[in-house]
Amino acid sequence: MDRMEINQEQEPGVKAAVYYEPHQPLRIEEVEIDEPRTGEVLVRTRASGVCGSDVHIADGFMPDFAGPMVLGHEAAGVVEAVGPGVTYVVPGDHVVVSPTAWCGECEMCMRGSFVLCDNRPTRAQGAPPRLFRGAEPIAQFTNVSSFAELMLVTDRALLVVDRELPLESLSLIGCGVMTGLGAALHTVKLRAGDTVAVFGAGGVGLSVMQGARIAGATTIIAVDLSSERLEIAATLASTHTVNASEIDAEEGIRAIVPAGVDFAFEAIGNPTTASQAFASTRLAGTTVLLGFFPMDARLDLPASDFINEKKVVGSRMGSAPFRLAMRAYIELYKQGRLRLDELVTSRGPLEEVNDAFERMRAGKGARTVLTF
Ligand SMILES: NC(=O)c1ccc[n+]([C@@H]2O[C@H](COP(=O)([O-])OP(=O)(O)OC[C@H]3O[C@@H](n4cnc5c(N)ncnc54)[C@H](O)[C@@H]3O)[C@@H](O)[C@H]2O)c1
Ligand SMILES: [Zn+2]
Ligand SMILES: [Zn+2]
Repeated sequence: MDRMEINQEQEPGVKAAVYYEPHQPLRIEEVEIDEPRTGEVLVRTRASGVCGSDVHIADGFMPDFAGPMVLGHEAAGVVEAVGPGVTYVVPGDHVVVSPTAWCGECEMCMRGSFVLCDNRPTRAQGAPPRLFRGAEPIAQFTNVSSFAELMLVTDRALLVVDRELPLESLSLIGCGVMTGLGAALHTVKLRAGDTVAVFGAGGVGLSVMQGARIAGATTIIAVDLSSERLEIAATLASTHTVNASEIDAEEGIRAIVPAGVDFAFEAIGNPTTASQAFASTRLAGTTVLLGFFPMDARLDLPASDFINEKKVVGSRMGSAPFRLAMRAYIELYKQGRLRLDELVTSRGPLEEVNDAFERMRAGKGARTVLTF
């Protein structure tokens, strides 16, 4: 970025939680945000979930993601202003924000893999950054940056929602729910009667379990180290729980389904639990990897098992075009079949973001939603 090109006019200061380097707390500071340009929308943040991926960045999983950067990507808010050419929203619209904006023109989009769009509408090279401070650009995590009072995003990152619905609960659809439900319903299309184990009962894993319940899976085993999270799993969707701090996870699962489960989901981001998930599947079973693994992580799997048609698949952001999938998930929520309010176990202002990170690391509660 050419520092001279940065918009140095007086832009409104916005309170944000800024990430600088791994293993350091985020800092609450003022940043500047540009005005919406062609195809862009300024959204007043009303609620932002805290996702495991935000914590992984702060824990140094992805050294390429350098600060200063505003984290947060699971959000809902109210449209404040629109740039030229925007027809999808008007000021005052309530919106859920998605990190999976799509272009519609790249090869992945044309193949129907919108979540893998590799040409997301962002600012052109040489254009001023969306976030900055003086002459210093500030990176936008997943082109969203919801740990801030305002978000500047493309209109293709938004879904308009009914104004009566609570934005705190809807914010979770932006990432964790979209990812977990989609893994169950779109990536592998679970069917009635399937047996399922889900490693990790955070916001993502709990959403996989709810997707499995909605699809009619008859055995849904939650695996976690945190008894608090396993209790939440049992109230939301799981039929069984395995506390991996007390018993070997595979043994615990095979005590319930001796042949192994049809589907094992890894929603943690740990190569060891990925191996355990694989080992817990039956002949021809499928392991679905949703966790965000450290960049240098490798998987250790018994190669001879593949002769038994075992499968491993990756799953990104629920494998479905977000406007279509989110609309369906919101209907399920309105019908009481998808429980979102219960996933919000803590609320707090932006200033409490580091406490929310600590709760995630300790496996406490399900999700914290920062409110504005
Ligand atoms: N695939 C995607 O597109 C996508 C999208 C969002 C999040 N993610 C990733 O999904 C993962 C889960 O996200 P989250 O927000 O639910 O995180 P989270 O931290 O809330 O949940 C992780 C859970 O794993 C449990 N856990 C940790 N180590 C364990 C072990 N050894 N055995 C059993 N349980 C263990 C923790 O107690 C915790 O409950 C993260 O890696 C996140 O980055 C991926
Ligand atoms: Zn996320
Ligand atoms: Zn594309």
